[in-house]
Amino acid sequence: MRMVITEDPAEAAEFIKKGGICAFPTETVYGLGAGIFDETAIARIFAAKGRPADNPLIAHVSSTDQIAQLSSEVTQSARKLIDAFFPGPLTVVVVKAPCVPLLATAGLDTIGIRMPALPLARRFIGFCGTPVVAPSANLSGRPSPTTWEAVREDLDGRIDCILKSDATEIGLESTVVDCTGISPLLLRKGSISIEQLRKEVPEIEDHELREDGSARSPGMKHRHYSPDADVIILEKDTEIVSPGISAFIGLKRPEVTFALERICRSVDEYAKSLFAFFRECDAKQIKSIYCEAVEESGIGAALMDRLRRASEH
Ligand code: TXA
Ligand code: MG
Repeated sequence: MRMVITEDPAEAAEFIKKGGICAFPTETVYGLGAGIFDETAIARIFAAKGRPADNPLIAHVSSTDQIAQLSSEVTQSARKLIDAFFPGPLTVVVVKAPCVPLLATAGLDTIGIRMPALPLARRFIGFCGTPVVAPSANLSGRPSPTTWEAVREDLDGRIDCILKSDATEIGLESTVVDCTGISPLLLRKGSISIEQLRKEVPEIEDHELREDGSARSPGMKHRHYSPDADVIILEKDTEIVSPGISAFIGLKRPEVTFALERICRSVDEYAKSLFAFFRECDAKQIKSIYCEAVEESGIGAALMDRLRRASEH
């Protein structure tokens, strides 16, 4: 299949309107979109990514007016978070409207909704004319794409179009909060931190700290964010083995010399660079990637979450 690469959001939206699937940038990572009411196109998203059928998709809207099409049960906590953080890197999970296909939500009666901050993403969704469901535009299990080239690397020949723009600003996926229960649950950490969320809704709980550990977010149980190389979190007493075929990413220049090194000036820059660095390491057949541990506050908590998941297998 020939894949079109364009910088024109109206041209990219034509593919969605004709029943196709198209990758587009957001402020977090690139997404792979289909019209939310188009079950054939949604099925193609799962096939193109090799995504497990039990992992639900996020619905992306161009304006808060579109939320009413997706849910008539926006709880008070959801409303507060929407007012405070939309548009932005936050996904709010609420009970879905009957018209939202179960294919999009992997059979769940809830739907994750997000309004991207990136103006180009909202223009694209606006041209599509309906909300756009989109997972990250990577092959399932690989690091999320933060550049259009990473999308091409994974999905060339499997999708109709890439809406091309710059590298994404944040580089980690959105914060996900389930607002359907009595106390809202943080399901996935992102650049909007739990401290920021609790300023609006103090009772939000961190799903990971709950005893039952049940998978309220089906996606979090799947393997994620992994390069082919082994990921090792570098703490003070970590032993470094064969740096000559290994890579380093972090804030402080290490004492030993690695085959590939990326020194970041801030935790924000570290988060923004991580997934592209993982891909670069794989392209250069690096064996192990040593990733410096950072303090778990603000985006540092999301960064450590991704590092742990990548190091877990
Ligand atoms: O930043 C992002 O969120 C990016 C961009 C493209 O918007 N999208 C993204 O999508 O990361 P994806 O599909 O790779 O991750 C979606 C996550 C998964 O962990 C999924 O299980 C969870 O959100 N999720 C989606 N709908 C849900 C629902 N109804 N209930 C619980 N979790 C849900
Ligand atoms: Mg993903």
